[in-house]
Amino acid sequence: MLKGALFDLDGIIADTASYHFDAWKKLIKNHFDTDLPNQLEEKTKGVSREDSLSIILDYLGIQVSEENFKQLAAEKNEQYVQALDALTSQDILPGISDFIQELRKAKIRIALASASKNGPIILEKLGLLDVFDAIVDPYSVAKGKPAPDIFLAAAKSIHCGAEECIAIEDSVAGVTAINSANIFSVAVGGTELSHANKLFSSTKELTLLKVEKAWQNCKR
Ligand code: BG6
Ligand code: MG
Repeated sequence: MLKGALFDLDGIIADTASYHFDAWKKLIKNHFDTDLPNQLEEKTKGVSREDSLSIILDYLGIQVSEENFKQLAAEKNEQYVQALDALTSQDILPGISDFIQELRKAKIRIALASASKNGPIILEKLGLLDVFDAIVDPYSVAKGKPAPDIFLAAAKSIHCGAEECIAIEDSVAGVTAINSANIFSVAVGGTELSHANKLFSSTKELTLLKVEKAWQNCKR
């Protein structure tokens, strides 16, 4: 029986993925007078704030001091948190509330495995904080996505083995992390996520029946 569901946050529970990249774009424009190309967004999805900034600076070929790096990361976060201000339960992605309800009815435990330090704030704004059995602090694990650490910690936090869980992601790094943890990966997105065990094109399609069936078929 399926015992646990591990959720990514940005792009799976809430439509906040684009807020992150918008904040990076603004920051880079203000400081370096450069426009970031949209195709860089996928590379910053699922990875920590610091790793995202490194990816962006590497792409631009810009080197900054350690102090400046910290300032830039902090400024991006200020911008991002401001954008979160207006977030309400209306911003939960389609189908997610029903899917979470189905999981809870079936007594499947739920954990958050997000790279975001803002996870608890966002869940609170969405009115979803109470439905999670556990939230993994991304800074408590040694390596961020695409390493498996956060998904292994999330499974452990709800007392499940990797084989008893599914995990849901919208990023390339996230799906790689789930696969490396030997957890059944459910992705929502396009063909860039074809390394997932099961791929949906929209959160609307997520139902317990579909996900559990895919998980069971894969186990055989
Ligand atoms: C992930 C996002 O969920 O969280 C990344 O996909 C982001 O784009 C990461 O960099 C860290 O988020 P935060 O809120 O801690 O800056
Ligand atoms: Mg995501």
